[in-house]
Amino acid sequence: MKLIVANWKCNPSTLSEAKSLFNEVKKRIEEIYSKKNLNSEIVICPPFIYLSELQSSTYRFYLGAQDCFWEEKGAFTGEISPLMLRKLGCHYVILGHSERRRYLKETNQMIAKKIVAALKFRLRPILCIGETLEERKQEKTAYILKTQLRESLELVISYKLSVSNLVIAYEPVWAIGTGNNCSVDEAMTSLMFIKRQLLNLYPKKNPNKIKILYGGSVNSKNAKEYINVGFDGLLIGGASLKSREFIKIIHFIQS
Ligand code: 13P
Repeated sequence: MKLIVANWKCNPSTLSEAKSLFNEVKKRIEEIYSKKNLNSEIVICPPFIYLSELQSSTYRFYLGAQDCFWEEKGAFTGEISPLMLRKLGCHYVILGHSERRRYLKETNQMIAKKIVAALKFRLRPILCIGETLEERKQEKTAYILKTQLRESLELVISYKLSVSNLVIAYEPVWAIGTGNNCSVDEAMTSLMFIKRQLLNLYPKKNPNKIKILYGGSVNSKNAKEYINVGFDGLLIGGASLKSREFIKIIHFIQS
């Protein structure tokens, strides 16, 4: 089962646009599903304020959020809790996206707490990791991936939580929104490295259950290549805002 996640980021600007994009995708997924067995799970992650308006009861078509706080409730101005998201019908939550690390200074330690909170309320966390252009130039990719994994999963490991609901998204920061997607060979090297790290972190569990996605300038032309080299799915930004392009990607993954 492949996992295709749409990260709408801070788009679109109005609820009516959000509804029409969501409904178009939903309709097409229902059509695909009525013809053949949909072998992918599709997740739409809109801005928080649209979540309650975009309910889905369609099979294998889920809602996700783009972040959550680590506490359940209380005096935390501006935050949204995993419990609230769960009650709204969310199944997934993106955590540690590079844009939050960059603009909001999120650290691995903060992300570690969010992952535990998400799991507690049965949200599937999608942990984003990836190197910046500068780190790649300095050949620090392996070190960055290793550190982000180890520190972000530290609490999950120490609390001995199940890893079966965990998803990792490898998103090289330099490939995000640039049209400059990571070559399949390079992405595969990182994929193998991530798998080895997960085995080191979870020697007694079966980390093969953890899905690993690729993200960064995915479009309908390159999407299938990442699946062919072993990624379990995709995390898609820009291309998920164009319903036809997004549906094309789903079609290609099916074929
Ligand atoms: P793009 O697909 O626009 O490069 O964005 C990727 C991303 O950041 C998804 O989380």
